Amino acid sequence: MSDPFPILAIETSCDETAAAVIGPGGVVLSSIVRTQVAEHAAFGGVVPELASRRHLEWIDAVVDQALAEAGIGLSDLGGLGVTCGPGLAGCLLVGLAWAQGFAIARDLPLLGVNHLEGHLLAPFVGQPAPPFPFLALTVSGGHTSLVHVRDVGDYEVLGQTLDDAAGEAFDKSARLLGLPYPGGIQIDRLAQTGNKDAVALPRGMSRKPGLDFSFSGLKTAVWTHLTENGQPEGQGLNDFCASLQEAIVDALLIKTRRAARQLGISRVAVTGGVAANSRLRGAFADAAASEGWELHRPEMRFCTDNAGMIGYVAALRMTRGERSPLDLNVAPGMRL
Ligand code: KG4
Ligand code: ZN
Repeated sequence: MSDPFPILAIETSCDETAAAVIGPGGVVLSSIVRTQVAEHAAFGGVVPELASRRHLEWIDAVVDQALAEAGIGLSDLGGLGVTCGPGLAGCLLVGLAWAQGFAIARDLPLLGVNHLEGHLLAPFVGQPAPPFPFLALTVSGGHTSLVHVRDVGDYEVLGQTLDDAAGEAFDKSARLLGLPYPGGIQIDRLAQTGNKDAVALPRGMSRKPGLDFSFSGLKTAVWTHLTENGQPEGQGLNDFCASLQEAIVDALLIKTRRAARQLGISRVAVTGGVAANSRLRGAFADAAASEGWELHRPEMRFCTDNAGMIGYVAALRMTRGERSPLDLNVAPGMRL
């Protein structure tokens, strides 16, 4: 079987058009992300139809930039990795159709990658292989889960959100507070100078046994608080953001600590867009010190959606001999 390197990876599952080039050993030679966030902000969330049209317009330029930064041309490629799910169907189709067309035209191997597996292994992008086993908390805009990761493809989901994802809890609360989309980063910024003990908010499911999460109660509590007390402003807004952020981070930490103790595992990875949150990073660093964890987090550029993590999974799996059929279809509801 031919060497798949360098691998061109493509990610178009939501509102970021991304391409990366991965070399042998999982090394990232380039990673380009072009975000549509400003366009969707006007609508308060991602508009699927608009997102897929932008992917179609941007993908060639984003791929060209990734190749240029890696210092290679299309003819140097050895394989393709592409997100095939989960995500918005129309968006996934753009990336997959591009990759399939290219793989067929150049007779190159193709691998369809699960976007969640990309997030799961993102803390180890650039390393020859992740240090198995480990416990992974994935916190993104669409997913929140605790997974026991034993090997590539050997994943046991221990718990997940029963309703909103952690990123949704940030974004929906931010919307109630009148902050622009995506709200997670706005809350993180305002919370820097806020008092986290100012407003009492629930830590969903933390008193119940088990490892699942729930953030819908928090959203309701935010709505109730705002209805009763009005929209906070100035320092009051900063205090509210700090309290809200603390409630989300605390709920995540309580379950992660519980899972690590239950498994008797001390290697913990925190990954996904919400792993960029500064309070989450601080709180998990503190927990790592007190619990004796070896903590792994992605570089900031591999927290939110990117093609580097997709290419990394493709590199690991293609090195093991895996290939996808060239008539691979998208799987918008794909699970881990
Ligand atoms: O992983 P990601 O880019 O997309 C999904 O696959 O869902 O995650 C996006 C999510 C959004 O909900 C966004 O608000 C959140 O990550 N996020 C943050 C921060 N940066 C991004 N949430 C809290 N604090 C941040 N600094
Ligand atoms: Zn994602």
